[in-house]
Amino acid sequence: MIEANRLLPVIALPDASAARPLGEALLAGGLPCAEVTFRTDAAVEAIAAMAAIDGLLVGAGTVLTPEQVDRAVAAGARFVVSPGFSPAVVRRCRERGVPAFPGVMTPTEIQMALDEGLSTVKFFPAEQAGGVGMIKALSAPFRSVRFIPTGGVNADNLRSYLDIPAVVAVGGTWMVPADVLTAKDWARITALVAEAVQAVKSGEPGKKATA
Ligand code: 3PG
Repeated sequence: MIEANRLLPVIALPDASAARPLGEALLAGGLPCAEVTFRTDAAVEAIAAMAAIDGLLVGAGTVLTPEQVDRAVAAGARFVVSPGFSPAVVRRCRERGVPAFPGVMTPTEIQMALDEGLSTVKFFPAEQAGGVGMIKALSAPFRSVRFIPTGGVNADNLRSYLDIPAVVAVGGTWMVPADVLTAKDWARITALVAEAVQAVKSGEPGKKATA
C-alpha cells in the first residue's frame, strides 16, 4: 500500500484524542497510510485509535527499541520505521511478523541491512544526507535496494525523489505540521495531503489539485 501511494506521512501526535479525526483527514485527502511516531507519549494510544479506522494502514515510527516494537504491534501497527539501523529492532520485527524499514545514510548501513535480509530501507535524513544525488550514487552498487527518503522532503521536491527507480515512496512531516495538528485544523491537513497526492499523480511538483 505504501508503494502504491508513494507517500508516507510522518506524524507526532501530542494527544491521542486527535488520532481518529487525523486518520479521517488523511483518508479524505486520498491517503490510506500513516506512520505514527514514538516521539510523544500518545504514540501507542494513537496507533490503536488509527488502526481501528477502516481502510487505514498504520505503522509505528521513531522505533528505537525492541520493547517499542512489541508495544506498537500490540496496538495494531503493521510496519515499523526507525531513524537508524538497529539489528535488535529489525530482529524483533521479524519475530513479530511486521516489515521493518530502518533508516540508513551510508553504504555500510545498507550492507548491515542487507545482512539482515532487508531490501527496503528508509533513507534519512534525505535532504541533509545528499538527497537525490546520494540515492542515485548508492543505487549504483546496491542495485536491489529500495529507498523511502525522509527528512526535508515536501510537495515541491517529492517528484525529484519519486522519479528515481529505486525510490518506493517518500515520507515526511510536511503533510501533518505540528501547528496544524495543535489547531486541530483537519481541513488543512486534508488539503495538504490532497496537494501531495496530486503532486505524485501529476508529476508536477507542488501543483494544487484542479477540478
Ligand atoms: C522522520 O522522522 O522521518 C523525520 O523527522 C521527517 O523529517 P521531516 O520533518 O523533514 O519531514
